[in-house]
Amino acid sequence: MGSTAGSSALWYLTRGTGTVTLVLLTISVALGVANVRRLQTETVPRFVFEAVHRRVAMLGLALLAVHIVTSLLDPFAPIRLIDAVVPLVSAYRPIWLGLGALAFDVLIAIVMTSVLRRRLGYRAWRVTHSLAYVCWPIALVHGLGTGSDAKTSWMLLLTAGCVAIVLVAVWMRAAASSRDQSGIRASVVLASLAAPLALVVWLANGPLAAGWAKRAGTPRSLLATASRSALSSASSGASATSECIDVRGKRVTPPLVYRPLRFQGAGVRHGEPVAARGWGR
Ligand code: HEM
Repeated sequence: MGSTAGSSALWYLTRGTGTVTLVLLTISVALGVANVRRLQTETVPRFVFEAVHRRVAMLGLALLAVHIVTSLLDPFAPIRLIDAVVPLVSAYRPIWLGLGALAFDVLIAIVMTSVLRRRLGYRAWRVTHSLAYVCWPIALVHGLGTGSDAKTSWMLLLTAGCVAIVLVAVWMRAAASSRDQSGIRASVVLASLAAPLALVVWLANGPLAAGWAKRAGTPRSLLATASRSALSSASSGASATSECIDVRGKRVTPPLVYRPLRFQGAGVRHGEPVAARGWGR
């Protein structure tokens, strides 16, 4: 892209829409469970929960479309259309971007079967719809494994909040299952307790640990660009409190865009470059 500003705008849009999509999927899962539990209050009848559940899911899908389009248009990382639908084929962070593609495929299946629900029959719809419980954690791990904001405290807090909401929803759903499903119920509760622990261990050794960009499968050319840019800002004397150059070669003033803290976490995009400066880790 001719201007780094345009390219940066795409990057911000990808991050923003990805984050909001995850929040909307979380709300949609919670409202879906509320619906199964036939939840209603004195002022909010049941059909409102159902209608909001559907609309939130559709809004999430619309934002997801923007998320995908902006990540394809952003020239920074080599992401092709096929990478958005076929898992593991991307040259850029194949596993973690691949999880995003998988979540997208599953989401499309859920939406399509919901639209065709009358033709497919209740059982087929229900089986596909329960894939939402699989789609959500896949999308969550994709965001943490690929996203630039995974190291920031706000993203970690938001993730913890989303995990808590879905956990409560899963427990409520398990409690609503019939007696002859007690085996499934026990495994679901066990899995829901083990999953957050596994997530914390993976986060500590993965996205939050040093060298994640390389281990996650960022192409060498991008890592080299990141290192060059960060080194050039180091040698030009830019300090964390004055002016810095981001990995796109764009000059940025910390108070405006990359404050020192953000520089260490999300500001240095995908790069994790100069150990000397301690940026990016
Ligand atoms: C249900 C599906 C998906 C959800 C909920 C989702 C959500 C997210 C989230 C939460 C992030 C982290 C944003 C941040 O760190 O601020 C992210 C990052 C990203 N996603 Fe997705 N995503 C999905 C599917 C996809 C697909 C299919 C693609 C393929 C093109 C994609 C491309 C990306 C890219 C390139 C990033 C990294 C952005 C960056 O540079 O920080 N996502 N996604």
